[in-house]
Order: sequence, then structure tokens, then C-alpha cells
Amino acid sequence: MSPTPDLSVRVAGVALDSPIVAAAGTSGHGAELGAYLDLSKIGAVTVKSLSADPWPGNPAPRVTPVRGGMLNSVGLQGPGVARWREEELPELAASGAKVIVSVWGKTVADFARAAELLCGLGPEVIALEVNISCPNTEDRARMFAQSPTATAEAIDACAAAGLPRWAKLTPAVASIVEIAAAARDAGAAAVTLTNTALGLAIDLEHRRPMLGGVGGGLSGPALHSIAVRSVFECFQAMPELPIVGVGGVTTGEDAIEMMMAGASCVGVGTATLARPRAIAAITRQLVRWCDHHGVSRVAELTGVAHG
Ligand SMILES: Cc1cc2nc3c(=O)[nH]c(=O)nc-3n(C[C@H](O)[C@H](O)[C@H](O)COP(=O)(O)O)c2cc1C
Repeated sequence: MSPTPDLSVRVAGVALDSPIVAAAGTSGHGAELGAYLDLSKIGAVTVKSLSADPWPGNPAPRVTPVRGGMLNSVGLQGPGVARWREEELPELAASGAKVIVSVWGKTVADFARAAELLCGLGPEVIALEVNISCPNTEDRARMFAQSPTATAEAIDACAAAGLPRWAKLTPAVASIVEIAAAARDAGAAAVTLTNTALGLAIDLEHRRPMLGGVGGGLSGPALHSIAVRSVFECFQAMPELPIVGVGGVTTGEDAIEMMMAGASCVGVGTATLARPRAIAAITRQLVRWCDHHGVSRVAELTGVAHG
């Protein structure tokens, strides 16, 4: 018997059994979340962004709670693509998870190299999320996703992986629609909205910034309405461009709001750090909401807020 409601969704032709996916950076590089959840039952696992080479990340402290969420300056620490393929991917694939692999770079050439190293992955890897919300050292450390040109160059550079490219954008821009359009025109099949907002916290006793990276990325409930607005604006401007909605999703209702704004599926990050089984709870709440509201196919909710 098929479950009620039908939770299957499609993101640019990629089929997911559930609309709730693990967001990048909040469930490790591999199968770590499998200790708490059956990874074959969630939409997909987005792995923490990988660079072509190993990268040590930022100095500690790297995370701090703030009102309405948290700040992180992990700084994209990671083992590099080759070691990830060898040491992390096999266990993740064996878990039955659908995998979204995420890459980052400091230059366009870095993105190209990371993408080349990802050629020939198995069918469990369904998409390449291109995290362009990171500093571009060839552009005075402005983020790639703060420039339409750099966005296009990074997305184009990742074509070599031979996977559908999903562009992960920052909300710290004047027009997220302009950046999403640049990503789409360069070949992105979908956009992931959004990465963290920019924040900073001061340690009053030491009279210094709280985090080793000085500033950090704000995530959690405080980010939610910013992300919903980004999703809404992009869907309104480009309804044909699929959106992965991410930002402060903590309940099934938050996920439904993202979908109504225009998301085809929804990422959960900070909620998982607080409660490792959050994705299962959010999925149950979403099912209950659909049951109560007579929604038989969750995919029907995408974009309904646009009338
Ligand atoms: C500790 C931490 C690490 C993260 N690392 C990454 C990363 O490696 N790549 C990426 O694209 N986003 C990363 N993110 C951003 C999340 O994927 C997500 O876009 C953001 O946190 C907003 O969603 P949330 O409020 O549900 O956490 C990270 C977030 C946190 C909190």
C-alpha cells in the first residue's frame, strides 16, 4: 500500500522519495547521521562541501549559539574529494542514501578540479551542489554568489562532473533573483536557497569577537523568513527553475511554508545539529499536516502561495 500522502518529489528530473533532505555541513561528510536515522528513508543526504584538496578550516571556536539559531565559522574543513570518495562515500552509498555531493573552491579553477575529481560516480549520487557562497580569492574575497559573472563561471566550471548542478546561493546579496538567473543561464538545473546569513557575536568578558573566524554564518529559525523570501522571489521570477529551500526549517509546518513559497524539496541543517532525528520528526509532522488538510501529493504544494 502506498503511504498517505505521496511524499515523492522531483527536482529538475531527479526523483526523491521524500521532500526532506539533510542540508550540507550539518550531517558530516559521510554516513554519520545513519546512527540516528535510516538514511534510505529520507529524501537525500547532502555531504559537507568538499574542495579538491584537503582543507583545515578556521581556528576555534567555530560555533556559538545566538538568539534564534547559531553562528558557525567552520570554514569548510574537509578531507578533499579523493579521500572522500575512498573513505566516506562507500559507507554512505551502502546505507541506501541518495547523495548530493557538495563542492567549494577559492578560484574557478578549484571548482573545475573538484568537479573533474568527481567524474564517474555511482547512481547513488544524484546531484552536485555547487557551494558558491564562499570567498573568491580572485575577486577581493567577495563570495562567488555575490557576482553574476563569478556565479556563472563557477557553475560552468563544474560541468565536468557530469551531474545535475544545483547552485547554493547566499542571501547576502541585493538581488538573489539576478544571481539565480546567472546560475541557471550557466547550466544550473536547480538553486539551493539559502546558505547562512552573515553574522557576528561579541564575547563581553573578553571584549572580542566570539568566533575564531571573527564573523560567522547565521543559521536556524532566525534565518527562516529570509530564506522563505528568497525562495518566493526566485519562484515568482523563474517558476521553471526548481528550488531546494533551506533555512531555519525546524517543524513540518516550516517545510510546508518553504514548499508553498516555491521549493520542490526542503533542506534541514541546524535542527539536525540540535536533534539528530529532526528530519524524521519534521517528516512526520509534514505527513500529519497533509493528512489534516486533505493533501494527497506533497508535490502539489510547491508554489501554491503564488495563487
Ligand atoms: C555548522 C554548519 C556547517 C555548514 N557547512 C556547510 C557546507 O559545508 N556547505 C554548504 O553549502 N552549507 C553549509 N552550511 C549551511 C547549511 O547547509 C544551510 O544552508 C544553513 O545552515 C541554513 O539552514 P539551517 O537553518 O537549516 O541550518 C553549514 C551550516 C552549519 C550550521
